[in-house]
Amino acid sequence: MKLRTIVAAPILKGTHVLIRIDSDVDVTAGKIVGESAYRLDSALPTLKFLLGKKAVVTLMGHRGRPAGNVDKKLSLAPVQKYLENKLKTKLNFLPNVRFDSREEKNDSSFARELAQGQEIFINESFATAHRKHASTHAITKILPSFAGLQFEKEVHELSCVRDAAEAPISLIIGGAKIETKVPVISKFLKQAEHIFIVGAAANAFLVAAGYDVGGSYVDAVSVRAARKLIKHDTVFLPVDMVIGTITGAKKFRTIAVADNKKLCGANEANFDMGPATLIMISEMLASSKTILWNGPAGKFEQQPFHLGTERIARMLARAGRGGACVVAGGGETVTSILHNKMSRGFTHISTGGGAMLAFLGGAKLWAVDVLEQK
Ligand code: ADP
Ligand code: 3PG
Ligand code: MG
Repeated sequence: MKLRTIVAAPILKGTHVLIRIDSDVDVTAGKIVGESAYRLDSALPTLKFLLGKKAVVTLMGHRGRPAGNVDKKLSLAPVQKYLENKLKTKLNFLPNVRFDSREEKNDSSFARELAQGQEIFINESFATAHRKHASTHAITKILPSFAGLQFEKEVHELSCVRDAAEAPISLIIGGAKIETKVPVISKFLKQAEHIFIVGAAANAFLVAAGYDVGGSYVDAVSVRAARKLIKHDTVFLPVDMVIGTITGAKKFRTIAVADNKKLCGANEANFDMGPATLIMISEMLASSKTILWNGPAGKFEQQPFHLGTERIARMLARAGRGGACVVAGGGETVTSILHNKMSRGFTHISTGGGAMLAFLGGAKLWAVDVLEQK
C-alpha cells in the first residue's frame, strides 16, 4: 500500500499547511500525563519538517468525546503548550474539532471552514484513521492531502505485520476491550503459531472453557466470541493467575488454572497472569520471528498486579533485540512499555489503539484509504 506523503507535497516557504495531529492525550492539572505524550512526540519530526521548510503551519486535533459541545476541560491548550515548548516556537491551533458536532458527521461545510486559507492538508493522526470525520476524511476532498511521517510509518510497519509477517508468528492479546480485539485474533487464527490470551480478556475465554471466574471482569458478548475462538489449537490461555479480593483489601494469591473449575469466589477476581504463564509464553515465543502485543496482562495500574505486564514488556524488548519483529500498540499497552523504559527493542510502537486493531484485523481505514496512491 503506497500513500501520498508529505515528502512529495508541494510545500514551499510561506505555503499554508493544515495538519491534523493525534492530540487525544491524558491531561492532569493542565499537564500532559507522562507516557501519553508519546502521541505528541511522534508528530515532532513532521512538525520540524514543516517548520524547516518555513511553511505557515496550523494544527488541529481532538481530545476526548465532547459530542459537539465546548468543554473547557478538553481544550487543546495543554497540547499547544507542550508542543510549543518542544519546538521552541509559537504555534497556530484550531479549537478541539469535536467541539463542533459537524466533525463526527464528516460534514463538508465544516471541512471547508477548517480549510479556509489553507493550501495543503497533512494527516498525522493515525489513531483516528478508522474514523470518517471532517478533519480526517471530508477535508481531503477540499485540499491536496498527504500523510505525515508517523502516519506513513504506521501504515508501513502495520502492513508488514498484516500482509507479510515472517513466520512463526505469535500474538499476545490482553487488556479489557475484547470486542475490539476479536478481528485481529480471527485474522491470525490459522496463520499464527500461538495466540496467548491474557489480562481481563482471558476471563471470557476461561468462562467459555467452563471455569468459574467469580467476581472477575467479564461480559456476555465476549464470552460468545470466545466460545468460537477457543476451539482453535493456536489459542492458549493462562495456566496460572494472581487473584485478589474485589473490595480493595491488599490480599492476593497465585492459583493454578487446573481441573478444579472454580477459580475464584464471588468477592475475588483475576487481576494478573501468574509466573507459570510467563514461563509458558517465553518458552513458546522463543522461536517467533514476528510478535504482536496488544493489551496489558493484568490490572497493571495497581501493584502488585503490574508484574505480568512488566515482564511481558521486558521479554518482548529482549526478543526484539534478538532479531524478532516486535510490534505493540494500544493506549495502556504503550503506557506500560514506556513506563518500564522498555521501548528499545520494539520494532514499532503504534500511536493507534482502535485504529491499529482495525487495520491489523483487515478493515479498511477511512483516512488511510483517501491518502492511498491508486
Ligand atoms: P489497550 O489500551 O492497551 O488496548 P485495553 O484498553 O484493552 O488495552 O485494556 C487496558 C485495561 O485493562 C487496563 O486499564 C487494565 O487495568 C485492564 N486489565 C487488564 N487485565 C485486567 C484484569 N485481569 N482485571 C481487571 N482489569 C484488567
Ligand atoms: C484514540 O484514542 O484511540 C483515538 O483518539 C480515537 O478516539 P475515539 O475512539 O474517541 O474516536
Ligand atoms: Mg485502552
